[in-house]
Amino acid sequence: MDTSREKAWSVLTSHVKETVLLNHCRAVEVAMRAYAEKYQSDVAYWGAVGLLHDVDFEKYPEQHPTQAAMLLQPHGYSEAFIADVESHARDWPGERSQLQKTLYAVDELTGFIIACALVRPDKDLANVEVKSVLKKLKDKAFARAVNRETLWAGAEMMGVEMAEHIEFVRAALAKDYQ
Ligand SMILES: [Fe+2]
Repeated sequence: MDTSREKAWSVLTSHVKETVLLNHCRAVEVAMRAYAEKYQSDVAYWGAVGLLHDVDFEKYPEQHPTQAAMLLQPHGYSEAFIADVESHARDWPGERSQLQKTLYAVDELTGFIIACALVRPDKDLANVEVKSVLKKLKDKAFARAVNRETLWAGAEMMGVEMAEHIEFVRAALAKDYQ
């Protein structure tokens, strides 16, 4: 199976046109690649899952993420890969693997951290402090679309401290997300 970034990007952009969603997919990709490296897993595979995790969202917002299979199968992505993509459904019934827990845990956190950078005068991810992200997690008015329970559940699922998780994802985004 071809897990190259080039292929994943071309498949993604054939189904997603909105810049906001493409940026979200790229941010999740960056976080997934960073964690894959940390866990000595397959960086390309984890990155492709991250990049493609919302492939069906623009066309099928109601059925998302269950339409990913239909969109990915014709491109030769395996059943396991498709299951990894679809596993970030909140009500996924199976036991999540480490990759699947990570996807769940970074999906909404990336956007939240980027939102924290964007309210800074310098808008710089490099200067976002963990304590300010933690504070904003408690501020319900800030980035209110982001479900806090999902964020806490994700960190717990992964077995990582929230502060550590935030710092890891922030550093990855500061390095590789433009
Ligand atoms: Fe997502």
